[in-house]
Amino acid sequence: MAILVLGGAGYIGSHTVLALLQAGHKVVAADNLTTGYRAALPPQVPFYQLDVRNRAALDKLFDVEQIEGVIHFAALSLVGESMQQPLSYYDNNLHGTMVLLQAMQAHNIHNIVFSSSAAVYGEPENVPILETDSANPTNCYGETKLAIEKLLFWTSQASNLRYVALRYFNACGAQPGGQIGEAHQPETHLIPLILQVPLGQRQKLAIYGDDYPTPDGTCIRDYVHVCDLAQAHILALNYLMQGKQSDVFNLGSGQGFSVQQVLDCARQVTGHPIPAEIAPRRPGDPARLVASSAKAIQQLGWQPQFSQLADIIETAWQWHCSHPNGYAEHS
Ligand code: UFG
Repeated sequence: MAILVLGGAGYIGSHTVLALLQAGHKVVAADNLTTGYRAALPPQVPFYQLDVRNRAALDKLFDVEQIEGVIHFAALSLVGESMQQPLSYYDNNLHGTMVLLQAMQAHNIHNIVFSSSAAVYGEPENVPILETDSANPTNCYGETKLAIEKLLFWTSQASNLRYVALRYFNACGAQPGGQIGEAHQPETHLIPLILQVPLGQRQKLAIYGDDYPTPDGTCIRDYVHVCDLAQAHILALNYLMQGKQSDVFNLGSGQGFSVQQVLDCARQVTGHPIPAEIAPRRPGDPARLVASSAKAIQQLGWQPQFSQLADIIETAWQWHCSHPNGYAEHS
């Protein structure tokens, strides 16, 4: 029996495929390759190029492969884009998951680990954020993730579907050794954008706002290493296989760093001055997002390995130095 990783050629998906293989699982990967890269997957992994909204393609896959659980990353995931193209986001993310659940039901596959997001919380009511805090997304991307969580909940009430939804905070870093890493087109995330400066691809970083109610005025986020996220998916899968009940878990490092602190740390790691300038706030950015991951630590047995921001940035730096154009030269 194998684990199907949907969206397996994406950033977090490809790191999870690698972690599953290292843990001895049989893996099948699928991706529509809109934002993912075939080169991010080991060549020996069976790969299906399909869209999660394509029921016939999913049925065919489930007919051919023996799948005992699904890890579902396949989604559009840019906050800004989601505000411009809400219909695409609901179609890819919510409708896509509906089609997937229908196909799973038809093939008696009952376990799913779902990529949710800290974006479901919107402006936090407490910091650190608990899973029981209210979820009021401030953008369309977060709305689609919350709608999928509710879809999973109600489907699990009415059938034998069981799920774990993992609410990631700021995924970052890369597989140590620089084989796979983060490659978005266009890039919108802080750490890769910072590293484009010492790579000579960008002149300076724009800091989006320095007048937030934080100690240095810049936004605070919880940066969690992608390999730690990957491990959490394996634990969530084991949790479901043990027959435990469906649930939702935050995944963060529990530490908050400001944009200015991330920049200073990247200057140390790279030895480059990385010039920066203050730019206007980016609409929709909450001042401070930090997770409590106590529930995942206690109930999933999650033990994040990367507690130092410098170590996280170092792994990202190795990846970007060895692949300055991402997967472009390989795909
Ligand atoms: N930032 C800058 N300059 C940049 C890019 C980002 O100052 O050039 C700042 C942002 O304003 C924010 C912080 O860096 O304060 C982090 O920004 P990212 O875009 O890297 O990440 P976000 O916190 O906006 O988004 C992340 C995930 C989303 C998820 C969200 C949940 O990337 O998928 O967390 O809140 F929805």
